[in-house]
Amino acid sequence: MTERAVNRSVVIPPDVHVVRDNIPLDDQTQPIQARACRVDSYSIVVVRSAGAAVDRIASFLPRGSRVAIVTDETVRRRYGAAVCAALRSRGHDVIVAAMRPGEASKGVDTAVALLNWLAESEIGRRDMLLAVGGGVVIDTAGWVASAYMRGLPYVNVPTTLLAQVDAAIGGKVAVDHRLAKNLIGAFYHPTAVVSNIGYLGSLSARQLRAGLAEAIKKGVIASADLFDFIECDLHLILAGDSGVLYRLVRHATAVKCRLVGRDPYEHDLRRPLNFGHTIGHAIETVTAYGPVLHGEAVAVGMAAATRISHARGWTEHALHTRLLGLLRRAGLPVTLADLQAPVDAEEVIGALAKIRLIRDGRLRFVLPVRLGEAAIVDDVTDAEIRQALDASVPVAAAP
Ligand SMILES: NC(=O)c1ccc[n+]([C@@H]2O[C@H](COP(=O)([O-])OP(=O)(O)OC[C@H]3O[C@@H](n4cnc5c(N)ncnc54)[C@H](O)[C@@H]3O)[C@@H](O)[C@H]2O)c1
Ligand SMILES: [Zn+2]
Repeated sequence: MTERAVNRSVVIPPDVHVVRDNIPLDDQTQPIQARACRVDSYSIVVVRSAGAAVDRIASFLPRGSRVAIVTDETVRRRYGAAVCAALRSRGHDVIVAAMRPGEASKGVDTAVALLNWLAESEIGRRDMLLAVGGGVVIDTAGWVASAYMRGLPYVNVPTTLLAQVDAAIGGKVAVDHRLAKNLIGAFYHPTAVVSNIGYLGSLSARQLRAGLAEAIKKGVIASADLFDFIECDLHLILAGDSGVLYRLVRHATAVKCRLVGRDPYEHDLRRPLNFGHTIGHAIETVTAYGPVLHGEAVAVGMAAATRISHARGWTEHALHTRLLGLLRRAGLPVTLADLQAPVDAEEVIGALAKIRLIRDGRLRFVLPVRLGEAAIVDDVTDAEIRQALDASVPVAAAP
């Protein structure tokens, strides 16, 4: 073996990785500044079949890596087993954990159980976590990935419309706390996202509509074209037309990427993406994260924010009519009375007061003005909220 002389007394073989530094002593005069710069970028792939999805997932896995799949019981039965078998046939050692389906599982207990499972399975940072499921699985698995060994790489494989157009993109990962939704979380981006339209074929009509609410939201706040597209092709979307769903997922994904790319770590708390979520989160909290779907709560929240804005004279009449009409035509709730669980307006206002306390005394509302324009305010009063929640809305004519 040839050897490289470093000095007379020390000889290190050439294939050994050597690190050198020579940092001078601190001059004791300047403030000491720490820096941590990092740019995250990742591919989001939209495919139309399970076979194509597995091919793309496999392309993001390091050779010979172990794969820890986090899913829920419903998705495991439908799709998880096939993903698992396909990755094993490509030479990966695959382990699977399935959560109980539903928002009630998106808590610290589930996250701790998953962390224990990863540790006991001796998954390491060169391995990969695969989150296969709806937003509940994706948010929980993402947070677990962020915490395990200070960051395990993960790939999102969203299987609901809501997760494909929203939850899987942006790196916001979290679990719920009984006092507030998504209270315990982080920003932690995936290595890639693989959205397969084929998975949406087994979604219930209710779940499909709930996902659509998050796509409509993006149209209102940032893309008149997306809003027009949904309005025009609504019947095909609701019928589960895979060609139209493919276009919807791509359009909504692109809009979300543009929006989060401007401020990926949410330094500015005035976020239009929160449209419908102030009241939406309060509804989810008072119904104990169960009977009301996230997208349904957001739909009521969007309708209420639009009424508040309209009552202030801030929303164009045409937008008020079109948005409430579109939500109704999509079969989404626009009042508390439309929800499948009884929700009292005063309880929602009480939950908002608690959220206000947690968020430095401010409760931000996104009030739509016209398509692509929203006002973000923190002076909405309980009386305005009460009026917007109690309103019995005239059904707007479909355009
Ligand atoms: N991180 C973010 O940026 C972000 C954005 C929006 C929403 N979210 C979160 O997403 C969550 C809601 O996500 P969701 O609506 O996908 O709910 P979910 O994950 O509970 O899925 C809904 C139901 O559909 C089932 N399911 C999933 N895929 C299926 C399929 N292909 N066929 C049949 N059934 C299927 C699931 O088992 C579950 O019962 C909320 O917790 C919300 O806070 C996060
Ligand atoms: Zn949401």
